[in-house]
Amino acid sequence: MNDIQILGEIPLYGELCTQGSKNAVLPVMAASLLHKGVTVIENVPRIQDVSCMVKILERLGASVTWQDHHMEIDASDLSCFEIPLTDVKKMRSSIMVLGPLVARMGQAVTYYPGGCSIGKRPVDFHVKLLRDLGIVVEECDGRIEAKAGKYRGAQLRLDFPSVGATENAVMAAVGAEGETVIHGCAREPEIVELCLFLEQMGIETKGAGTSVIRVRGQKGLKDPHYHVCGDRIAAGTYLAAAAATGGEICLTDAPVSYMKATLQALAACGCELKTEGSRVRIRAPKKLSPLPFLETEVYPGFPTDMQSVFLALLCLADGDSLIRENIFEGRFETVGELRKMGADIEVDGREARIHAGGRLKGGQVTARDLRGGAALIVAGLAAAGETVVCHCEHVDRGYERITEDLSQLGARIKRREESVQ
Ligand code: UD1
Repeated sequence: MNDIQILGEIPLYGELCTQGSKNAVLPVMAASLLHKGVTVIENVPRIQDVSCMVKILERLGASVTWQDHHMEIDASDLSCFEIPLTDVKKMRSSIMVLGPLVARMGQAVTYYPGGCSIGKRPVDFHVKLLRDLGIVVEECDGRIEAKAGKYRGAQLRLDFPSVGATENAVMAAVGAEGETVIHGCAREPEIVELCLFLEQMGIETKGAGTSVIRVRGQKGLKDPHYHVCGDRIAAGTYLAAAAATGGEICLTDAPVSYMKATLQALAACGCELKTEGSRVRIRAPKKLSPLPFLETEVYPGFPTDMQSVFLALLCLADGDSLIRENIFEGRFETVGELRKMGADIEVDGREARIHAGGRLKGGQVTARDLRGGAALIVAGLAAAGETVVCHCEHVDRGYERITEDLSQLGARIKRREESVQ
């Protein structure tokens, strides 16, 4: 058990440095496999998902050193091409190792990650793109086996701009001869970051951040040295925490240009925001305004990863709000937990209507997933009395030092010792 205990209704004040981005570093680590050499990555967040990716790389034969936020991955000699099922179950995004591994080794084996609490999470788009590149992919009893001889660059098309499938296709295309053009790509910042990293390896890509990406297959790569950008979702979470508690904080190292939709939504709630370079300052209003309609969309729209946190935030507004979730079908699991804290939320399919309550009360709640857990912490910071958020191992998958960071901003928050249920 990993519980966090919070005494609520204390406004957050102060300054905090934004951690490195989880969703940017994971594909970059996977892409290190493309290169028979050493990859250096700076500003690596010390979170569970990164530890899990380290284990995967090590099992494949890479040697990894990771001190503070500095990581070196030596993938000169890989000895294995199978990602064990236990690692796949720990981290669904392990699927993104498939593309670079088959590009490097000519074969790769992984397992179907299966559904999770935010939705079904199939990998059919990933498999289709690899097949369209001429890689043979067989699926049997949850096992996915990819094999490739020499394969040529091709025209690929995504029917939906999946972030992970775009990343996998870009990395697999590095192993092709000639140019691959991927149409219908996701435009998320993490894809731009992956292509910046590939450029440092000497791989030519064009169009990252647009819906058409071109990748030129390449051998003889260089040792890259990459600095991970700030985490736009962690930054958004801390800003929302300040908004929920009526506080005023400043974040440094925030990827401000990647956060427009979140900043706009916070401004629409009545928060005062000021940005300067990579600094963003937020001052909460006396009373938060409701949002009559907020929907999650692919980038540059409002991110699905901020949805649960806004669900918590909007419980505190002085009017009714509506959130529509368009990306993951099961992402309202946290509603049941927020109700235990006095929230009045109705869910109808992909929509959640949040009735104005203006207040939340402390209680014992359970984190069901990473962002849902963060939302409960935000709710706990604003709620009257004490809140215990159980199963915060989900939160530790993506937030580096959530209790320490919030304490630094004045929150009364701590880990609860091991407890028996
Ligand atoms: C990534 C992010 C995650 C974020 C999500 C959407 C990482 C490690 N994770 O996840 O935090 O919430 O983008 O911004 O970067 N889909 C299929 N078939 C597939 C792949 C996806 O149907 O083969 C569906 C998914 O079920 C989902 C939608 O497409 O409904 C979007 O998923 P996708 O963009 O692939 O998300 P991830 O890459 O898994």
